[in-house]
Amino acid sequence: MTIPSRPDFDTRAAQWDQLPRRVALANAVVDAIRQITEPQATMRLLDYGAGTGLVTLGLQPFVGEVIAVDSSRGMLEQLELKARESGITNLQTQFIDLDHEWQLPAGIDLLVSSMTMHHVTDITGLMFHFKACMNPGGRLCIADLEEEDGTFHDDQAAPIPHHGFSLNQIEHYFHEAGFTSVSTRRIMTVVKERDEQRREYPVNLTVGTVGPALD
Ligand SMILES: C[S@@+](CC[C@H](N)C(=O)[O-])C[C@H]1O[C@@H](n2cnc3c(N)ncnc32)[C@H](O)[C@@H]1O
Repeated sequence: MTIPSRPDFDTRAAQWDQLPRRVALANAVVDAIRQITEPQATMRLLDYGAGTGLVTLGLQPFVGEVIAVDSSRGMLEQLELKARESGITNLQTQFIDLDHEWQLPAGIDLLVSSMTMHHVTDITGLMFHFKACMNPGGRLCIADLEEEDGTFHDDQAAPIPHHGFSLNQIEHYFHEAGFTSVSTRRIMTVVKERDEQRREYPVNLTVGTVGPALD
């Protein structure tokens, strides 16, 4: 029996930024996170599943320090290249080997993740780990697909652990891990053609806080 392999981000990395709707979605994520969390120069930001850094580099100018984490070396290489070309000095990358125990850095004020959580098998475990890495008052911002029928990804052979998340499900993960002031808003709808039909895939941003609920 052939076991399907994970989506191959390494080979897609060099072309990743060439799709305008991807860039538009990342910009919408950045705008919404900036509006909701008001990033500050004193903050340490971690982008989980940063990819080529479309979201990371959109937020980088507004925070003090950035850590970009990803399980694809190819994606991180593209991000490092862009950072070098732009003379960015407050960014470091961290490769996550999904087959081995890994640990995220501590002291994070703003933890963001865009279009990655549907690739993560153990979301509950990761959410607890996120919270343990964050400072009191820190904000967790997760942008991902609303529950879909499994047709979003072009490569139907690669296993995707979650076909998006209902609002109840994603907010449940936040509450279960102990985040407070949890709220969700729709930030964009991705449109694709499937079987010669126009299909809509809404993307939501959920934000939660570490510590007492905000006013
Ligand atoms: C759809 S891309 C999104 C990239 C970027 N956030 C963006 O908005 O352009 C998903 C990224 O998550 C990474 N990834 C997938 N599963 C992961 C996991 N379990 N842990 C960390 N990164 C993961 C992939 O390598 C890929 O770069």
